[in-house]
Amino acid sequence: MAFNITLYKDLSFKEKYSAFLEELEGYLSKESDPIANLANASAFISAFFDDINWSGFYLLKNNELVLGPFCGMPATTRIQIGSGVCGTAVERKEKIVVENVCEFPGHITCDVRSKSEVVIPLIKNKNIYGVLDIDSAVYSRFSLEEVEILEKAIDIINKYTDYEKITY
Ligand code: SME
Repeated sequence: MAFNITLYKDLSFKEKYSAFLEELEGYLSKESDPIANLANASAFISAFFDDINWSGFYLLKNNELVLGPFCGMPATTRIQIGSGVCGTAVERKEKIVVENVCEFPGHITCDVRSKSEVVIPLIKNKNIYGVLDIDSAVYSRFSLEEVEILEKAIDIINKYTDYEKITY
């Protein structure tokens, strides 16, 4: 498979993100290895979303979040439930959109350039397995529409990823 992002450069918002979801499903549906699928999912998000400096997964292992596949700068490897944006999203079992990371109590800085962030829990069959975390160097980077697209991406990721193999 050869991937060419320039094909999607001049598309409208709607066209670009429907191509994103189609390409994501195309790749993930052909692979059963969960690490391979999460690695490609983080790469797809980095490729299609502008102004993203970190995109990746933290997975629940022994009741703490451990760094999983990602695209971006080196990051903190372990996050406790209830800590930072990621741990808070797990505690609440809901997505968190942070317009300005400096204003989020307990925010954990990984890449010093990050200004805004979105964290969406990975919930499949009512079980929580971790989070998708995306950072941007732009304040208020994530629109409601884009967050909805990311939630559709999570549905696709959930469909083709056996988290039971990589969490405990
Ligand atoms: N900012 C996150 C930590 C992970 S890094 O952004 C990759 C948090 O506060 O949980």
